Amino acid sequence: MIGRLNHVAIAVPDLEAAAEQYRTALGAKVGAPQEEPDHGVTVVFIELPNTKIELLHPLGEESPIKGFLEKNPAGGIHHVCYEVDDIHAARDRLQDAGARVLGSGEPKIGAHGKPVLFLHPKDFNGCLVELEQV
Ligand code: CO
Repeated sequence: MIGRLNHVAIAVPDLEAAAEQYRTALGAKVGAPQEEPDHGVTVVFIELPNTKIELLHPLGEESPIKGFLEKNPAGGIHHVCYEVDDIHAARDRLQDAGARVLGSGEPKIGAHGKPVLFLHPKDFNGCLVELEQV
C-alpha cells in the first residue's frame, strides 16, 4: 500500500544553524523557511535526489514539536512520511488493522498542500508515521 518515502522530518533546536549545516557541510539543496501556522511549525525543506528532509522548528506556544524538543534538546528524527495513492482507503485499512490515527481521523492539508494523516507512534515501533496522498 505505501509507496515512496516522501520525507524524513527532523526536529531541530536552531533552524538557521541546521539549514546552514545542510547547505554547507552536507552540500544539499536547502529551501527558505516556511511558516506553517496550522501545524505549529516552521519548516525548511531539503531536496535530496531520492527524497526530502524536513527540518522542523516550533512555531507558537501550542506547537506539537515543543514537547519533543524538551525531551530531545539536541533535536531528533520526529517522523517519517510515506506516500499513498488514496488516503481515505489507507486510513480505513489501518484502522481495521487496529492502528490509531491521530486527531479527528480526517486528513488535513500538509506542508506540501496535499492531504496528510499521522499514525500513533506506539502502533509503529515508536516512530510517528505520516501518510501523504500524492
Ligand atoms: Co512531515
